[in-house]
Amino acid sequence: MTTPATDHRATPDAAGSGGLRLLDITLTLGDGDTAVTALDHVDLNVAPGEFVAVVGPSGSGKSSLLAVAGGLQRPTSGTVHIAGTELTALSDGERTAARRRHIGFVFQQSNLLPSLTVREQLLLPLHIDGRLDAAARARADELIEAVGLSHRADSRPHQLSGGERQRTGLARALMTSPAVLLVDEPTSALDRVRSAEAVRLIAEQTHERGTATVMVTHDTAIMHTADRVYEMVDGRLS
Ligand SMILES: Nc1ncnc2c1ncn2[C@@H]1O[C@H](COP(=O)(O)OP(=O)(O)OP(=O)(O)O)[C@@H](O)[C@H]1O
Ligand SMILES: [Mg+2]
Repeated sequence: MTTPATDHRATPDAAGSGGLRLLDITLTLGDGDTAVTALDHVDLNVAPGEFVAVVGPSGSGKSSLLAVAGGLQRPTSGTVHIAGTELTALSDGERTAARRRHIGFVFQQSNLLPSLTVREQLLLPLHIDGRLDAAARARADELIEAVGLSHRADSRPHQLSGGERQRTGLARALMTSPAVLLVDEPTSALDRVRSAEAVRLIAEQTHERGTATVMVTHDTAIMHTADRVYEMVDGRLS
């Protein structure tokens, strides 16, 4: 297996052992005069148990990077390997199943289902997968407590603050103990204390469960918690 020449710290077998690997990813959005190169020959290797932070200005391609890494967006060229599988080689249906099973996504907007309570948001992915059992219910309550929402477990999204919604999204992403965790941090929804708690939970998940984590952030405090920090500028990662 070859390692991209630009990534000297890469773990060569990250893909084989369950991490995340992006190889020479380019993503072009729009066409003609309005075409934008959102990702420009990006290589990224995240080993299991590694916490990578990505910083960069608005519009630099951070969300695009996570969308491609999580299989939500097909790259124009390049390959994505996740948990030992080449995500970019799967059919749409297979990719959706792989995403549900192996990838935890915390979006910039919380993307909660309006009709479900906090607890139900967490249980839904396992329900869809036919894996909803007593252990899953216990794990849901444990995570709801870990994000400080025990008193809101039966509330629906419209009854929650922005920060509470985001913490629900984080708890939901951790439910399946995903091989890969992708976090697109909103800039304003969480205060400093809550934000530090959320990051502690993410770091704990990463190290204890061997998750390969990529987090987009503007918070310099978080950058110190991360194992590596990359900067994204005009679709290039350095
Ligand atoms: N559907 C689309 N069609 C065309 N261009 C797009 C599309 N989506 C995003 N872009 C462009 O791609 C570039 C990267 O966008 P992206 O959302 O990845 O940036 P970002 O780094 O996440 O920004 P922010 O910090 O504001 O969230 C931007 O120039 C954006 O305008
Ligand atoms: Mg973004």
